[in-house]
Amino acid sequence: MRILVGITGASGAIYAQRLLMYLEQTSHEISVVLSRYAPVVISEELPDGLQLGPGVRRYGHRSMHVPFASGSNVPDVMIIVPCSMGTLGRVAHGYSDDALARAADVVLKERKRLILVPRETPMNLIHIRNLETILLAGGQVIPANPSFYTRPATVEAVVDTVVSRILDNAGAPVDVLPRWQEEPDSIRTKSDPEDDESHH
Ligand SMILES: Cc1cc2nc3c(=O)[nH]c(=O)nc-3n(C[C@H](O)[C@H](O)[C@H](O)COP(=O)(O)O)c2cc1C
Repeated sequence: MRILVGITGASGAIYAQRLLMYLEQTSHEISVVLSRYAPVVISEELPDGLQLGPGVRRYGHRSMHVPFASGSNVPDVMIIVPCSMGTLGRVAHGYSDDALARAADVVLKERKRLILVPRETPMNLIHIRNLETILLAGGQVIPANPSFYTRPATVEAVVDTVVSRILDNAGAPVDVLPRWQEEPDSIRTKSDPEDDESHH
């Protein structure tokens, strides 16, 4: 598949970094496009900057002379991670004023897979309505809401609970974490007698 990762100026650059790290382990063709404000947040949040493998193609937001600005060269999947509320609003309203927003517009019109990963909290009615618009237009929303049942012990492990959901939904699964009911016995609760029974 051809996978385009859009990175915006929302907090959570580490989600994009971890996602790209795993995608680089696959045989998919990976491209990255940064929004106008993404570099500022990346420099705040990622001490070593955004690390991209040699196979990843990186594009800026300014030029529409990028492959994914046209329906004739649409990626199979576009993931906007983290997705700012500004970019969410622009995409929801077809405001294709930069390469990232235009790519999302193209992905929707060509009926390819668009995944938005917002981390905003709390949300206002405008955010919720824009998310609804994305869903109605065929896009998917995977909020950056970590889970804890795998007992993540590091920030990276917490982040990976979200990243694994993104990879699965993008159709590019990578064995990031044990899947539910694949956890080692040691982390199961002993309070449920049925659980004990099934493991003896
Ligand atoms: C450190 C930092 C963190 C930010 N976090 C968020 C965020 O979580 N969500 C959001 O919508 N905007 C956030 N912003 C504001 C966006 O960067 C700003 O709205 C920007 O115009 C978004 O533009 P873009 O969508 O083109 O990246 C943050 C800004 C900074 C400097």
